[in-house]
Amino acid sequence: MRALVCSSLRGLEGVAPGALPEPHLGSGMVRIAVRAAGVNFPDLLMVSGMYQEQPELPFAPGMEVAGEVTEVGDDLDSLSIGDRVTAYLPHGGYAEQAVTTHEKVFPIPDDMPWDQAAAFPIVYGTSYHALTDRASLTVGETLLVLGAAGGVGLAAVQIGVALGARVIGAVSSEEKERAVREAGAIEVIRYDREDLRTWMREMVPGGVDVIYDPVGGDITETAFRSIGWGGRYLVVGFAAGSIPSMPLNLPLLKGASLVGVFWGRWAAMNPDADHANFTALVRMWGEGRIRPMVTATYPLEEAASALRSLGSRSAVGKMVITP
Ligand SMILES: NC(=O)c1ccc[n+]([C@@H]2O[C@H](COP(=O)([O-])OP(=O)(O)OC[C@H]3O[C@@H](n4cnc5c(N)ncnc54)[C@H](OP(=O)(O)O)[C@@H]3O)[C@@H](O)[C@H]2O)c1
Repeated sequence: MRALVCSSLRGLEGVAPGALPEPHLGSGMVRIAVRAAGVNFPDLLMVSGMYQEQPELPFAPGMEVAGEVTEVGDDLDSLSIGDRVTAYLPHGGYAEQAVTTHEKVFPIPDDMPWDQAAAFPIVYGTSYHALTDRASLTVGETLLVLGAAGGVGLAAVQIGVALGARVIGAVSSEEKERAVREAGAIEVIRYDREDLRTWMREMVPGGVDVIYDPVGGDITETAFRSIGWGGRYLVVGFAAGSIPSMPLNLPLLKGASLVGVFWGRWAAMNPDADHANFTALVRMWGEGRIRPMVTATYPLEEAASALRSLGSRSAVGKMVITP
């Protein structure tokens, strides 16, 4: 089958369009004819040999897909051939076919377009889990989202707004600022040209209740200093490339919590709760309260360009690959 093939762990140098054997369907698994695959930052980390779980070479990157079920393991009766689904998987999404375990497959509404369905499970799954299960965000609280125009960031902005929070986004360009305002943020700080700490001190003197951080690096400690009493700081990722350290008197002084978020691991341990979250998210989608912002679609042959765009920090919202 056609796929984007990673044959050496050299980032974009090591990937090219090519062919891979059709994936094996084990028991409890589902085969999907891929209509669209979502692009995520961990795909770039994986082809660079920097992700926490590395598949054997050669492999196709891609952790989420949307498409039709074409085969189900003989022990399964919850899904049928022809079902429209979205799904996540360890890797292998940038290909004509993908297989994954049935717990990671979710039926989608008839009117959900393929590109939106492919851009759905990881970013909304992560951000909903972070803001509800981990941070217990409540109506009227203030939420600061760093990297707010990225994949998980924009999902966090939309979900925060849908949950009734007052959302502030932090971004590095005018184009990203527009996207975050469109997603419902009441304020956007441009940290490429304004000092985050000064801005926060003026605009939110009491500090924010929840901070969502998929960026890491130098911004983390600065952002933490803007948290309010009893705040929750969500450690989501390190797109800036470095894992920050921080003096532990900072959480002490604010009575604040530093909260780790590892949605994939949590979902594997709590599949029923993950499905309940997905049901809530599909309801929000049906009510028009969340919408994946798909800003670019690439054919499989040009999938590397999508990864390049993530690496250069120029991507806004979500990109999808269409095999
Ligand atoms: N914990 C979990 O369960 C979980 C789940 C999914 C993803 N993640 C992690 O979340 C992070 C974001 O993933 P994503 O798919 O949303 O990525 P993305 O779409 O590329 O967004 C990342 C954002 O980070 C900011 N950024 C700052 N420095 C950057 C740099 N040097 N290179 C690239 N971006 C930089 C950018 O916003 P500005 O330019 O506005 O700063 C960018 O929009 C990744 O580290 C990923 O591994 C974690």
